[in-house]
Amino acid sequence: MTVHKLTVPLGAKSYPVIIGSGLTSGEKSETYLPHFKGLRGVVITNETVADLHLDRFLNLFAGTEYEVVPLIVADGEQYKNQETLFSLYQQMFDAGLQRDGFVCAFGGGVIGDLAGFAAATYMRGIDLIQVPTTLLAQVDSAIGGKNGINLPVGKNLIGSFYQPRVVLADVDFLETLPDDEFFSGMGEVLKYALIAGDDFVSFLEMNDQQILAKNPKILAGMLHLCCRIKADFVARDELEQLGVRAILNLGHTLGHALEKTSAYVGLKHGAAVAMGLVFAAHLSVEAGVLSTDDLKRILNLLHLFKMDLSVPAEIQGEKLLEVMARDKKTTAGVLKMVLLRNIGQPYLSGDITPDQILAALKKCQQPLEL
Ligand SMILES: NC(=O)c1ccc[n+]([C@@H]2O[C@H](COP(=O)([O-])OP(=O)(O)OC[C@H]3O[C@@H](n4cnc5c(N)ncnc54)[C@H](O)[C@@H]3O)[C@@H](O)[C@H]2O)c1
Repeated sequence: MTVHKLTVPLGAKSYPVIIGSGLTSGEKSETYLPHFKGLRGVVITNETVADLHLDRFLNLFAGTEYEVVPLIVADGEQYKNQETLFSLYQQMFDAGLQRDGFVCAFGGGVIGDLAGFAAATYMRGIDLIQVPTTLLAQVDSAIGGKNGINLPVGKNLIGSFYQPRVVLADVDFLETLPDDEFFSGMGEVLKYALIAGDDFVSFLEMNDQQILAKNPKILAGMLHLCCRIKADFVARDELEQLGVRAILNLGHTLGHALEKTSAYVGLKHGAAVAMGLVFAAHLSVEAGVLSTDDLKRILNLLHLFKMDLSVPAEIQGEKLLEVMARDKKTTAGVLKMVLLRNIGQPYLSGDITPDQILAALKKCQQPLEL
């Protein structure tokens, strides 16, 4: 089977993203073991991933000169916190981890963020290897170097930018991923497709059944398309200072507002992003920039992946507007949102009116017409 490889081009900090099936089952270890520079490391994972995949993963190091100690934390966003982090530092020290050691983040985005921050700060920074095991982490969070932990007052308030040495995305891990987590990642995949344009959208339209059946070859191809886009945006704006990475927030302004609206705690990220994509498409039509043909194609695409979700009717438009107005992209009271001129032509718009937003929201609250 094909192994896809791409580079996140960041000068001296450039690193490869290796994507494929069977990558972490042993046969292909020559593809990436050279990226593990030191010989002593820790694999940070959680209980769920450890039960399912840790033995197989550790097997990779059997019979090699690498000495690897697994560190297992509890599963859940609520453990992405100071207590877990400091307990990890202690365990890393106890495991004899020195400055030439490495941290392998083996799990979803929570583990990637937590272990990434531990690697960035332990002894002022040691090598980090990202081995993402959820679709969301494989297409998004493992690439780009953002990491961090939550504070009781808010998510991701402590963190840094710290690039890994290598990202190993093995699609075989996705076999055990629960459906809701798979669709959570698919929300991001659909977002990338709308940002990228016709080739990616056609790929998804042609391969919907194979993707839903988790065909490894097709999944690897899909990941490659996503990771190329993420790598490109990261390369152009590594530290998120130029506003370039803001485009990757397509669908996220409403998505985040829905996640924050208290009645919808528990709404999965992917479902919220899918609703946000429909909203962004309707709003683009309201703003007079997107054709209704493109809108139809977007709704059909979401339908193929069972993600053509209406925003629940009981959510008040005014309430959402209020939450969206607090979005981080709002400057001087002007709400900025990513809209689409065409599929594949996203842009940051700063002249949307509350009336247009409310009109688009109303359309998203009706059963979606294909
Ligand atoms: N750093 C970034 O750029 C970035 C970007 C987006 C999101 N994030 C962060 O990522 C986190 C969300 O990540 P996520 O969606 O991967 O959630 P997650 O890490 O909580 O994983 C979701 C669930 O899937 C389980 N799981 C992981 N791999 C599995 C597998 N192969 N089989 C079965 N179960 C598996 C996990 O144990 C967990 O219960 C949030 O904390 C968010 O802030 C970070």
